Amino acid sequence: MSASFATHVLFLLWFSAATFSLSFYKTESSVSCNEKEKQALLTLKSGFTNPRNLNPLSSWSDQEDCCRWDRVRCDNKTGRVTHLYLMRTALGGKISPSLLELELLNYLDLSENYFNCTPIPSFLGSMASLRHLNLYEAGFCGLIPHQLGNLSSLHYLNLRSYSHLYVDTLRWISGLSSIQYLDLSHANLHREVDWLQIMTLLELYLDESSLKGEIPESLGQLKHLKAVIRFSGPIPSFLGNLSEMRALDLQLNQLNGSVPKSLGLLSNLVALLIGNNVLTGTLDEAHFTKLSKLKNLEISSTPLFFNVNSNWVPPFQLEFADMSSCKIGPNFPTWLQTQRSLHFLFMSKSGILDKAPSWFWNWTSNIDTIDLSDNHIEGDVPDILLNSTVLNLRSNHFKGRLPRLSANVKVLNIANNSIYGPISTFLCKKMNRKNKLEVLDVSNNFLSGEISHCWRYWQSLIHLNLGTNSLSGDNHLSGIIPLWVRKMRNLIILRLRSSGLKGKIPPKICQLSSLRILDLANNSLSGPIPNCLKNFSAMVLPDPLNEDVYFDSLEYDFDYGSYIESLMLVPKGWELNYEENLKFVRIIDLSSNNLSGSIPVDISVLSELHFLNLSRNHLMGSIPEKIGSMKQLESIDLSRNLLSGEIPPSMSNLSFLSYLDLSYNNFSGRIPSSTQLQLFDALSYTWQSSTLWSSSPK
Ligand SMILES: *[C@@H]1O[C@H](CO)[C@@H](O)[C@H](O)[C@H]1NC(C)=O
Ligand SMILES: *[C@@H]1O[C@H](CO)[C@@H](O)[C@H](O)[C@H]1NC(C)=O
Ligand SMILES: *[C@@H]1O[C@H](CO)[C@@H](O)[C@H](O)[C@H]1NC(C)=O
Ligand SMILES: *[C@@H]1O[C@H](CO)[C@@H](O)[C@H](O)[C@H]1NC(C)=O
Ligand SMILES: *[C@@H]1O[C@H](CO)[C@@H](O)[C@H](O)[C@H]1NC(C)=O
Ligand SMILES: *[C@@H]1O[C@H](CO)[C@@H](O)[C@H](O)[C@H]1NC(C)=O
Repeated sequence: MSASFATHVLFLLWFSAATFSLSFYKTESSVSCNEKEKQALLTLKSGFTNPRNLNPLSSWSDQEDCCRWDRVRCDNKTGRVTHLYLMRTALGGKISPSLLELELLNYLDLSENYFNCTPIPSFLGSMASLRHLNLYEAGFCGLIPHQLGNLSSLHYLNLRSYSHLYVDTLRWISGLSSIQYLDLSHANLHREVDWLQIMTLLELYLDESSLKGEIPESLGQLKHLKAVIRFSGPIPSFLGNLSEMRALDLQLNQLNGSVPKSLGLLSNLVALLIGNNVLTGTLDEAHFTKLSKLKNLEISSTPLFFNVNSNWVPPFQLEFADMSSCKIGPNFPTWLQTQRSLHFLFMSKSGILDKAPSWFWNWTSNIDTIDLSDNHIEGDVPDILLNSTVLNLRSNHFKGRLPRLSANVKVLNIANNSIYGPISTFLCKKMNRKNKLEVLDVSNNFLSGEISHCWRYWQSLIHLNLGTNSLSGDNHLSGIIPLWVRKMRNLIILRLRSSGLKGKIPPKICQLSSLRILDLANNSLSGPIPNCLKNFSAMVLPDPLNEDVYFDSLEYDFDYGSYIESLMLVPKGWELNYEENLKFVRIIDLSSNNLSGSIPVDISVLSELHFLNLSRNHLMGSIPEKIGSMKQLESIDLSRNLLSGEIPPSMSNLSFLSYLDLSYNNFSGRIPSSTQLQLFDALSYTWQSSTLWSSSPK
């Protein structure tokens, strides 16, 4: 099916993209331009439209020497135009064939423009001097012309685009005999292109005759082959013959079978990226025999067994390793200790069921990002200074006190382990005072004590999750909140669920104006819900367009990917894990406390709130009349309170509502009519106490 072949197609390798600084956009010499070429450029200009009313080609005038125009570069001896830098000029319209007059043009960059889904002109294939052609996100659509395969001098071809480019065959690519970098990502393969075709493409370059040197130069370059293609089947062992190959990128395919040991012969390989496949069998020492240059290993989400001896000393020094969700355990991968250049290590869900070796914690101090979550790694957390930017140790069997943090640490997730001791010891440690911590998740541990101390040292916090610990103390929540509100205006996520909290919710909590997720459920909080909810600005106002200031903080991007914060929420009565969409969620969950009084009327201004759960309290009075203006609400749970009165008619305006539970209250009257509310199960509409009215839409 063509649909499953829809994204990446093929890309080759890299390393040669010339970069020119702006000063090169104009020729500095005194040669003057060729009149014929000048007229060709003026014709080219007249074909362009300028959808955004910028005037990037204003210097292109008949009166001036074309070698002095912006974005044009001439050969400084002949005055012939060699380079056109037309990227990011907001150009659209037509590319005039007058371009063909520029017979010595070798560099053409039209990337990031607005060619509004017109086809790539096939005459580009006749520009025999071209060495560099960049059409990245230029806005072209349709069939990529086979004629481009005539560009035998081309070193660089970038057709990466999210617009609708497609190829019907890849045979023309074999004409690109000088190519060093080819990127066709996201082009659509209308016809199935299978291994056979790719092999034909390679067998061209690998057959005996070419190896003997008939096309030695092109061979030299095509050896840098890096193929990314959607296909199924095994990795052919002949790939091991491409001894100059530096990057093998076969991620996200339907590759099956085992990984051929011949890959271990690729002595120039820098990147081996075979993750997200259905490859089976083992990877062992033999697969890496000669891979001494390997820096980047990506085998994640692939049912491979990484089975090496405990005393293995790999030939490589990795910088990036993503081995999540493949089988590495049960033993701790001791070979990691040999890796001294590692910056990023992802090894979550890899079946490690072992003690962390004694060198482990010291060893992490040079690793920028480390994710060992969802294993069964045991061991004491020593009194050590952690130094990684992102540390995800969630769901293991670490025990002991919380470690100290250096000023580098931005994310510490050590949830769901067996960490114990008073949390204040951690919060107040001198070492921690200069911290830049943005995310702290220590939920599901055995921490204890008051949480009221030292919050002023934690001003960078955005996400704080202390849920499900044995925190105790009288009225301490009201004691700590005033400190937070002065200092923690950036806090987006406050989750103190199931933490043994007592006392009232102090009104000053409303000053956490960036808050999007407030989860205080399952504590012993009493007293009224503070009457100041309207100050939760982030729940009142939609996100400003193009402003991702806080959002970015839940994601840590780096060269090879990103780490995304995740959180378990209970939006509609059951737990869901939020990752990428965490930043879009706004939730108030105060359920299962001992809250009394009425639902504050001003709650209805929280028009961006998605989920509201006030169930299992002692709330009285009626539902605020204007609840219908909370137009983003998807879920309301007010069950098991002492609420009464009629259901406000405005509720029928809640067009996204898909979960509603008002059961075990004392409501009266009729259900307002609306298509949305009628979707709910109409079984029991008697508004007496014990009314059961809870259902999802059909
Ligand atoms: C002409 O360009 C070449 C390289 O492009 C450079 O080495 C040379 O110095 C330039 N000559 C003049 C006169 O600018
Ligand atoms: C790979 O190389 C081996 C030995 O060098 C040779 O026997 C084999 O035919 C080659 N495979 C291909 C597909 O070129
Ligand atoms: C801590 O990390 C920084 C950079 O992330 C690094 O420069 C420094 O050497 C590390 N410190 C230790 C003690 O490893
Ligand atoms: C906690 O870790 C255990 C395994 O140690 C796992 O089974 C469980 O699902 C985890 N719970 C959460 C909430 O992550
Ligand atoms: C709940 O609050 C009421 C007063 O509103 C109080 O009498 C009762 O003891 C509280 N229960 C718990 C479990 O805190
Ligand atoms: C329920 O509400 C009715 C009035 O609608 C009232 O008469 C009754 O006492 C209430 N029941 C309880 C248990 O509060």
